Amino acid sequence: MEPRLPEHCAHIVRIQRERGRAALAPERLDELAGYHDRPPAPADGEADGEAELLGLLTRPFSRTTDIPRYYRYTDLHVFDWFLDQRPDDQLTGAAEALAVSLTALLAVERAAPAGAIDPATSAERQQRLRAPLDRVAELTFDPAGAVPLGEALRARENDPRARWNRFVLAECTGFPQSDKHDEHLFLRSVHACEMVFFLVRALVLRAAETCAGDRREARTRLRQAVLTAELLNGVFSALWTMSPERFMEFRAETGDASAVQSMNYHAMEIVLYGLDPEKEKVLAEYGHLAELRGILAEEWQAQGARVRAAGDGEMDRHLDALLRVLRRWRGRHYGFAVRYLTPELTGSGGTEGANYLKRFVEKRGLPAPERSRGVRTFLTC
Ligand code: HEM
Repeated sequence: MEPRLPEHCAHIVRIQRERGRAALAPERLDELAGYHDRPPAPADGEADGEAELLGLLTRPFSRTTDIPRYYRYTDLHVFDWFLDQRPDDQLTGAAEALAVSLTALLAVERAAPAGAIDPATSAERQQRLRAPLDRVAELTFDPAGAVPLGEALRARENDPRARWNRFVLAECTGFPQSDKHDEHLFLRSVHACEMVFFLVRALVLRAAETCAGDRREARTRLRQAVLTAELLNGVFSALWTMSPERFMEFRAETGDASAVQSMNYHAMEIVLYGLDPEKEKVLAEYGHLAELRGILAEEWQAQGARVRAAGDGEMDRHLDALLRVLRRWRGRHYGFAVRYLTPELTGSGGTEGANYLKRFVEKRGLPAPERSRGVRTFLTC
């Protein structure tokens, strides 16, 4: 039987999808905020987990929780929840979440109403989306690098709990602000990239943890990080099918929900490059990033440095390749800002826009002290 949301939750999904979140009337917003901030007592016979679902669906509307705009927009708390369901294997969890997001996006593209997108662009977009989706199924995330993700997921295909989790992830995320078709592509691209940022950081941290003992695993983990990072360029290739005119149709509605607020992205960068003094100002501007900076400087910068200091030729080669792939993505991202934003238009995060990104295309590595602790998701706050 196909999974289904309880009717009340399905209703909350429907009203958000109708014309986009920005079109929700003030009384609707009050109602949605109320579910989160003053959760109703469970009704008689209410299904297990309904309160949890309501919480996931309404958190972005909370008036009592301090949530940065980027996190309200992207619903990354649902991805955090999804990864929590697999505490023993968050790497497979994150790769699976990426596949779920791209699959949900492909479904939206296939069902696009007439006139929402021209057929040639739609065909091109779907083809470009298939590439990272097929690719992630071939990648491995196990310590030996022996089991492709597609195989690992097929083994759990009929596990009802795993199916339910995938369903909840797809249903409780992907709520555009506007009613513009292309915003689905933009929002799901953010989701996919966030999963890659998380995977790259987690894989490099695994390499740091194992490089003193099991050098073979450390090498495998870095190779996996390179191949995973390549997915970023696949996702951006699909995003490129959105024209600047289409982007402008919904940009104002996404407001100041800039990924410059992404903890997960800055966390990945700090592990790989250390804390960049030029970013201090940006990190200090947002409370949640300032907090992250302290934790990371202590914990993870050290791990990245440990990988760099291992003195292993193969690890060095993988690390160099990883930095090249990420540099290519940053260059491309800068290209996006140039293509989509006019020179006088600043970034939605309040930076100078394309010029901000240009400053960080090149990176310098920083040395760091030795210390070690576990992985945290930093997917939401
Ligand atoms: C049309 C597409 C896009 C454009 C025009 C664009 C533009 C920008 C601009 C101008 C900034 C500078 C910060 C600001 O003021 O907002 C930025 C930052 C950022 N964007 Fe994008 N972006 C796009 C898509 C994406 C996507 C899909 C992701 C995936 C998560 C992403 C991730 C980031 C990150 C992580 C930062 C912070 C970079 C840093 O601090 O070094 N962007 N973007």
